[in-house]
Amino acid sequence: MNSNEMYEKMKAKLDRIVPDVELRYKAEIAVEINELKLQRNAVILGHNYMEPALFHSIPDFTGDSLDLSRKAAQTDKDVIVFCGVRFMAETAKILNPTKTVLLPAVKAGCSLAESITAADVRALKAKFPGVPVVTYVNTYADVKAESDICCTSSNAAAVVDSLHSETVIFLPDEYLAKNVARDTGKHIIFPTIAGRGVFDQVPESDQAAGEGTHSTNDLDYQLIGWRGRCEVHEKFTLKDIETVRAQFPDVAILAHPECSPEVTAAADFSGSTNAMIRFVQQSKAPHYLLLTECAMGDNVAAANPEKDMLRLCMVRCPHMNMITMEDTRDSLKFNRYIIEVPEEIRVKAYQAVDRMIKIS
Ligand code: 13P
Ligand code: SF4
Repeated sequence: MNSNEMYEKMKAKLDRIVPDVELRYKAEIAVEINELKLQRNAVILGHNYMEPALFHSIPDFTGDSLDLSRKAAQTDKDVIVFCGVRFMAETAKILNPTKTVLLPAVKAGCSLAESITAADVRALKAKFPGVPVVTYVNTYADVKAESDICCTSSNAAAVVDSLHSETVIFLPDEYLAKNVARDTGKHIIFPTIAGRGVFDQVPESDQAAGEGTHSTNDLDYQLIGWRGRCEVHEKFTLKDIETVRAQFPDVAILAHPECSPEVTAAADFSGSTNAMIRFVQQSKAPHYLLLTECAMGDNVAAANPEKDMLRLCMVRCPHMNMITMEDTRDSLKFNRYIIEVPEEIRVKAYQAVDRMIKIS
């Protein structure tokens, strides 16, 4: 496909979203990327948060974290370029140890992945011996390696249920854990761990099992959480919802489960990025507002031209936004940035990721 054909293909989707001047520029880069992709026998996986021109041109597959993990597990290409963040690329490497996995921006991290270490998980396991550990895929490989099974926002409750355990350690997203607890009728506690000062400030309402100050024996709980947060979704508030509803009374509001329980309860729907996309496709509201990374609003608007998408772009994911088409081209050209996972960690992390993929 030459750059004119690529431009026409992108324009068909993005006519009302991206001005021509940008489409023409990005179409040329997309053609370069596709040539490099062929030369290197590569597959490009693009998360739903990628900016619209990238999302609608170069990925072989787009989707949410679970979907892209499955695609990574199935690929027969030599090189996987992950247009997403580091934990996603690491998951692809965990599943494909012999393939080259590239992340176009070396620093594309995630506040949830940064919130917990493997030592934290070991300390929790020592505190709650024998209790199975579920970790959100938004964690690094060494944390996954300490876990029994992973989950994503689209299968979290199902993964917890699959363990048939009275108690489950669920890490590290405080809000996802609280949303799962509410949806499954479970009680959650947030233990403190010595030396992790930030987690010692536990509010009275859900303080429990504190270091040396509480006994877990006389408490009723089924989930044990951690106070990690997504720096994007934690910023959406009930006030945002009320203000938008006051202006657009018939808006359908969709919130990612990394939003606070107050926000997900006040929204009309809560689900993974793929589930939100499906909700918009299958419903008929006069307006929609997605409480998630704003680039996804553009992508959903492009796929549903007859539907009115409101954007709330004051909150952005700085990590997802680091992935540009220029850097994606350069990642294939210069073979960077290569994701490596030490084999002893990979083997253990593989069990947790593979177990998740098999049950969902
Ligand atoms: P999804 O699994 O819903 O795509 O979410 C990934 C993510 O990082 C949300 O912030
Ligand atoms: Fe991480 Fe939040 Fe960005 Fe998703 S939106 S990658 S959870 S910081």
